Amino acid sequence: MGSSTDYNMLVPIIDLSLLQKDHQTRSLVINQIRESCRTAGIFAVINHGIPETIAEEALTVNKNFFNLPLKIKEEFFSPDMYKPVKYGTNQGGAHGILWEYLKLYSHPFEKLVDLWPKSPPDYREIMGNCTMEMRKLSIQICGAMMESLDLEATYLKAEIEKGVQMVAINSYSPISGSNMKIIGASQHSDFSVITLLLQSSLGLQVMDKNDKKWKSVPVIKGALLVLVGDLWEVLSNGEYKAVLHRAIRTSGNETRLSIASFQSLEMDEILEPAMKLVNEDHPEQYRGCCLRDYLKHRASGESKPFVETVKIINSATIQ
Ligand code: OGA
Ligand code: NI
Repeated sequence: MGSSTDYNMLVPIIDLSLLQKDHQTRSLVINQIRESCRTAGIFAVINHGIPETIAEEALTVNKNFFNLPLKIKEEFFSPDMYKPVKYGTNQGGAHGILWEYLKLYSHPFEKLVDLWPKSPPDYREIMGNCTMEMRKLSIQICGAMMESLDLEATYLKAEIEKGVQMVAINSYSPISGSNMKIIGASQHSDFSVITLLLQSSLGLQVMDKNDKKWKSVPVIKGALLVLVGDLWEVLSNGEYKAVLHRAIRTSGNETRLSIASFQSLEMDEILEPAMKLVNEDHPEQYRGCCLRDYLKHRASGESKPFVETVKIINSATIQ
């Protein structure tokens, strides 16, 4: 079997415009979403309504940001996880800088935009458009994913709409003679309900649950990737698992960019498994948790994945 076949099975492509069609077409799409979330934890969406120019401009303006002198970028440097704008680099020891990132809190936009980078001069406008579009789309996809779990499409909608949106822009330098470390972002799942991700070139890999091997996620023109996050694993009581992923650096001379939009609930809003998904056959598997719990966990330096810390150990399953 060719590797492109593997890709298509691992990262199904879902045409979101079909959700506006007749009942039967709509339920086919919802079924596809259910299947993708269960088997892969990731899918690609096309005809999602975000104009391609918005995505292209966002990649370009961030490329220009990362090309600025370190002195300007360093203004945003901080170890504080709560900082609304945070720049950082990931050092690979002798390998030098492996990647740079900028993290922006992006909702509510009006309250945060004045803290965003002023240069390049069009940064705020372009990223404002991009993050608002990504937020809108995330909310829409969450509705369809709720339906795929037989919950109301509006379940948690108000909480998600009020929720924190954080956007991470990652810039990975290519591997070269003196800088051969392949792994950029090491394996993790995202703390989000879902993450929307745009990648400029190949580099994202997900763990295939069938053979436990890393598989590269193809770059599909015009598509965006949807990743199931930790919060979704909790709300679905483990029905959809957060997808384990990482980013690798590739050869060539191009810097790879990715833009990830993490949709969460408010800082202290506790999310628990949906009551409808908890029953005798499916006892509650997760404790409620909120974004602040996650940030505290990160700040503590604890290496255990966050989602593991909220799992309820069910004595009946211990052999
Ligand atoms: C992330 C992430 C992957 C990538 O920012 O959480 O997983 O391709 N990024 O950069
Ligand atoms: Ni991630």
